[in-house]
Amino acid sequence: GELYDFLVVSNRLPVDRVEEASGSGWRRSPGGLVTALAPVMEKSDGAWVGWHGAPDEVLEPFEHEGITILPVPLTAQEVENYYEGFSNATLWPLYHDVIAPPEFHRAWWDSYQRVNQRFADAAAERAAEGATVWVQDYQLQLVPAMLRRLRPDLKIGFFNHIPFPPQEIFAQLPWRRQVLEGLLGADLLGFQRPNDAANFARAARRYARAAGKGSRLVVTDPAHDGEWSPRERTVRAEAFPISIDTARISELAERPEIIERARQIRHDLGDPTTIMLGVDRLDYTKGIRHRLKAFEELLTDGRARVGDVTLIQVASPSRERVEQYRILREEIEGTVGRINGTFDTMQHTAVRYLHHSYPVEEMVALYLAADVMLVTALRDGMNLVAKEYVAARRDGTGALVLSEFAGAADQLKQALLVNPHDIAGLKDAITTAISLPRGVAARRMKAMRRQIVVHNVEEWSASFLARLKEVCP
Ligand code: G6P
Repeated sequence: GELYDFLVVSNRLPVDRVEEASGSGWRRSPGGLVTALAPVMEKSDGAWVGWHGAPDEVLEPFEHEGITILPVPLTAQEVENYYEGFSNATLWPLYHDVIAPPEFHRAWWDSYQRVNQRFADAAAERAAEGATVWVQDYQLQLVPAMLRRLRPDLKIGFFNHIPFPPQEIFAQLPWRRQVLEGLLGADLLGFQRPNDAANFARAARRYARAAGKGSRLVVTDPAHDGEWSPRERTVRAEAFPISIDTARISELAERPEIIERARQIRHDLGDPTTIMLGVDRLDYTKGIRHRLKAFEELLTDGRARVGDVTLIQVASPSRERVEQYRILREEIEGTVGRINGTFDTMQHTAVRYLHHSYPVEEMVALYLAADVMLVTALRDGMNLVAKEYVAARRDGTGALVLSEFAGAADQLKQALLVNPHDIAGLKDAITTAISLPRGVAARRMKAMRRQIVVHNVEEWSASFLARLKEVCP
């Protein structure tokens, strides 16, 4: 097949299948990564390597809206063991502070290795001499070293979209050494927060060895950037906080039909004084239970009243075959039912719960309708919802309650920062947000907007790729 100068490798392709009357087609997935990388791909003769989402289906390469797609197949068994198992029931909980207990199964690990090798083979086969390959996220941590073994000529970058755990937690992983050595195959390792890079550096220094005698790990600066040097080359670990397509969200927030839709949403809820909003994948890392508990207590205490305040909770379906996600769904839906049963009136609801995902236009209308945005993650690599809310609030109104355990807290310093485990503190922050004076709200929102206008997803990918070029010999 054709060879490419720039390859992105990720578990999921940047396109989703859509069923239409005329048969099935593809639609570009929402999300900033593809927006940021599509122009880079077009300029540099690039292609995207990834799984198309259907088990047991083999697809030929195809073009979609200017992007070359190179599909990697997975069997149903691999979806179970590599994706649902090792990626999302071992690594995901382990990397998110063991909020749910990680499960360790040798059959899952075997499948993870095999699938990572398939992604590495696919990239090696399609990369031109000296090409740049950018591997994405925790599902593919072995790919950098596998790829280097096959193709030492490549420039290899890796970006971890989720947190990297403290060494003491990471140490639980029976295959910790292999995972670290997989990552160390890259020239540049990107993390969301400086502390993630530092956690990686500490774990690598302690547990990795096979990369050559005389190898050493240097923590290069007090901001915790890490540099690890096997005898023959240097691996760098640095923070590159990801962001959003700020201009696009901002532009949507200006459209008359979206502004009108926001008004309609308010009206449909009976025009409460305050609309609060939560938007998350239905995931135990997001702190949805903590948010509901705080709201329920505010209603019980009489500090909030149905009719004055409504919480819209969008919980988009996610990883529904993984047990912990099923347990969480039951719990949340039970809690929402209890709260609404207790506090709803004929006219008004306490919690409008929506187990759906919505197109970006509807999301922006929700951001415009929401006076208060609640992001209460217990651990989150970044959290782009927080940044999208800020991007949509062009007029400087609105208040953001934001967990300090989300990477976004590093950039959105003027949010009402909370520790979501501290329910009393969370209740106070919500109360403050509801009655935040206009001037204070505007000053905070403007400062946050300035941040994300400059630090958008395009700047993120450009700075990672520039750094990769710089550090490659
Ligand atoms: C997180 C991960 C991504 C993942 C996404 C959706 O943002 O960092 O790698 O694609 O969740 O999860 P899913 O399992 O549906 O791909």
